[in-house]
Amino acid sequence: MTEEYRQDSHGPQDPQDLWNAVDDYVNERLVPADEGLTGALAASDAAGLPAIAVAPNQGKFLHLLAASLGARRVLEIGTLGGYSTIWLARALPAGGRLISLEYSERHAEVARASLARAGLDAIAEVRTGPALETLPKLAAEPGAGPFDLFFIDADKVNNARYVEWALRLSRPGSLIVVDNVVRGGKITEPSEDPAVRGTREMFDAIAREPRLDATTVQTVGTKGYDGFLLARVLD
Ligand code: SAH
Ligand code: DHB
Ligand code: MG
Repeated sequence: MTEEYRQDSHGPQDPQDLWNAVDDYVNERLVPADEGLTGALAASDAAGLPAIAVAPNQGKFLHLLAASLGARRVLEIGTLGGYSTIWLARALPAGGRLISLEYSERHAEVARASLARAGLDAIAEVRTGPALETLPKLAAEPGAGPFDLFFIDADKVNNARYVEWALRLSRPGSLIVVDNVVRGGKITEPSEDPAVRGTREMFDAIAREPRLDATTVQTVGTKGYDGFLLARVLD
């Protein structure tokens, strides 16, 4: 199933081949697949959704982060077929709750079915609509927050707004993770690419934000060369 994710090799001795082999090595030993996870990827693929979910070892990383934090409430922005949602929801204790925001009704339907098959439909809820519309609705609900952990992985052009909303829905000590912030290294230069622009805007906003303490570690693997941003909400 990891093959679903693979970036193709671009020629002899391509570093991508080595990155794929290392992800396989790690996943074989530390990240066992199961029916809930492989079923979600298969359903996503069968429905024609793009194969852009986090890689298995990245999903496990998110899961460990949520478990380490003792997270009880998680907010995800960008559900796709629910693969990262399953990893995160499985870290929650009894009574825990995950809300995932997804633009596409079709993606949400696929994700809901996979969450139900994984036995997580009582814990994880998918809400549809543009996140910039569903976030204010969520914030207006009594007892909606605060969330302990945020995973931002939707339209990258709005990354700065999503971090702003996460901060609003957080408590001191909450963690914010943003996917795909390195983008093959494109992030270091101004660009017309809306994803690069939005992500650079986010870095500048976080740098100016005294309530957030943040870093980024670059990653390579089956999803190519990219990285996560990790931000902590200060007391
Ligand atoms: N987190 C998923 C992958 C998400 S892919 C995983 O790792 O398994 C990005 C998702 O964001 C897509 O499903 C896309 O439809 C959704 N998206 C794009 N624009 C959005 C918006 N404005 N609001 C909410 N979701 C959006
Ligand atoms: C894309 C989006 C993602 O969230 C990701 O992890 C990889 C690729 C994309 O839109 O191409
Ligand atoms: Mg992503």
